[in-house]
Amino acid sequence: MYTNRKSCIIKVLIILCLLYFGIHVLTNGGPVIRELQQSGRSLAALDTQNVESIVQEGSALQLSTVNTTKVVQTEINSKPSSSTTSSTAKPEPTVSEKIKEITRCIDRPLVPKTQQRGDYWVLYNYIPAEKTFKCEETVTYTTHADYSFMDNLVPLLERWGAPISIALHAPGTDFEDTLESIAHLRECTSPLVRELVTFHIYFSTKHVPKEVPKHNALFQEPYNCSLTPPYLNVSSEQMYKAQKKLLYPVNVGRNVARETAQTHFILPSDIELYPSPNISSKFLDLVATNKGPLLSKNPKVFPLHIFEVSANSPVPESKTMLKEMLHNRTALPFHKKLCSGCHNIPKAKEWQTAPESEGLHVFHVGKRNGRFVHWEPIFIGTHSDPLYDERLSWEGKSDKMTQGYALCVMNYDFLILDNAFLVHKPGIKVYKKDPKRAMLAAKTNQLIKKIIFPELKVLYGTRKGCAV
Ligand SMILES: *[C@@H]1O[C@H](CO)[C@@H](O)[C@H](O)[C@H]1NC(C)=O
Ligand SMILES: *[C@@H]1O[C@H](CO)[C@@H](O)[C@H](O)[C@H]1NC(C)=O
Ligand SMILES: *[C@@H]1O[C@H](CO)[C@@H](O)[C@H](O)[C@H]1NC(C)=O
Ligand SMILES: *[C@@H]1O[C@H](CO)[C@@H](O)[C@H](O)[C@H]1NC(C)=O
Ligand SMILES: *[C@@H]1O[C@H](CO)[C@@H](O)[C@H](O)[C@H]1NC(C)=O
Repeated sequence: MYTNRKSCIIKVLIILCLLYFGIHVLTNGGPVIRELQQSGRSLAALDTQNVESIVQEGSALQLSTVNTTKVVQTEINSKPSSSTTSSTAKPEPTVSEKIKEITRCIDRPLVPKTQQRGDYWVLYNYIPAEKTFKCEETVTYTTHADYSFMDNLVPLLERWGAPISIALHAPGTDFEDTLESIAHLRECTSPLVRELVTFHIYFSTKHVPKEVPKHNALFQEPYNCSLTPPYLNVSSEQMYKAQKKLLYPVNVGRNVARETAQTHFILPSDIELYPSPNISSKFLDLVATNKGPLLSKNPKVFPLHIFEVSANSPVPESKTMLKEMLHNRTALPFHKKLCSGCHNIPKAKEWQTAPESEGLHVFHVGKRNGRFVHWEPIFIGTHSDPLYDERLSWEGKSDKMTQGYALCVMNYDFLILDNAFLVHKPGIKVYKKDPKRAMLAAKTNQLIKKIIFPELKVLYGTRKGCAV
């Protein structure tokens, strides 16, 4: 992304900085360099960062550097910049530079490692994406699945067009099918899979596969793309997970995928929820404006409206198309027929009638209280948001409720986005009786009420109007 010219300028800058700091050390002793090091940024990191903000940060650390900083800045500005033709005007910072300055985010490495996590083994970054990202550069969609859901990956990717971090539950013999599914997706479908998707795999310590190749010894044989990929037409009986009657540890997967995301902003979601096109770049444009509700002191997340469409309908490409489909009833708000309270969003009616506009804006700032006390929103957030409770399973339901409680007590603002939304893979869910799941859900409710909720009250405290 950086031209040779720019990196040359940066080198000159580094030398200037070194010179300046050298003189400073000789005259004033070495506190600035020490403090710069303590602030976690090295001079070598200059080429990846907004130079001006670093210099300013250095100056903020110690008053005596202020005046020289100005000199250095003037020099920066007087050099021709690679991004503008003007040689005197200060170049407008790019969106990425603004995001970096606003978030002060730290880059995260994409390194494979094998680690235990509670009752699970996790192969973190087992198959990393070819492209890596700086923390300010984009937004990562983080999700979880087993191999039977991997048919969603390509449609998801084509709409998202930005990095995806996915944790796959692959106990026992499901592991082989999972690897084969990944090979098929990487070799025989969209090139975006290799480029943008990082796969993590996890399984219970009681269900370790017979063989687990080292991450650098994977996929050495060429893959035959005429074979049917294992993820098509999987009947649940043929899966190891079903044969052994294992529960799906959804929150282990959610947390693994989230923690490994390289970017500051993340969209933790479910793999069957396809985002409207180009959310990531429009979202960063919004954050870069840094005004209005974005400036509130409260922590914040950015919920997305969720819809479902009937089985043979296309997934809407824009809010305008979505509105037409809502009008002719080929689209509905998500789970309207299953659990309308769970995904009800503040000002939903107004949102659905508001016309589409250019870019992304905050439509409304909501709270998880009052009528929305049990809201399980899906939102763009950051690594600072509370994780999910790993004792909860998908089958037991309520798997996001404890996080919701924590957000409420911490007084999060929910900045609902206007032109962005999620659409479930086509097919409208209707209520089916499942006595086994109902029993598990009842048990989960007891676990939350008797054990988890009292813990949350100790750890996060209480606030009027908040509930799990
Ligand atoms: C630094 O600059 C400020 C104004 O820009 C000036 O008031 C101050 O005297 C300067 N300090 C030194 C040490 O030159
Ligand atoms: C690839 O798989 C197809 C279908 O099973 C088979 O006919 C073909 O011989 C295989 N090709 C190679 C190179 O193994
Ligand atoms: C999967 O099932 C669908 C219908 O149930 C069928 O049309 C399709 O051919 C099957 N695909 C494979 C690869 O077996
Ligand atoms: C998404 O962004 C790309 C590049 O900015 C653009 O070419 C494409 O038309 C956009 N797609 C939609 C649906 O807005
Ligand atoms: C509903 O609206 C969508 C979007 O305009 C259109 O593609 C679809 O054909 C319509 N369906 C019916 C049944 O009218």
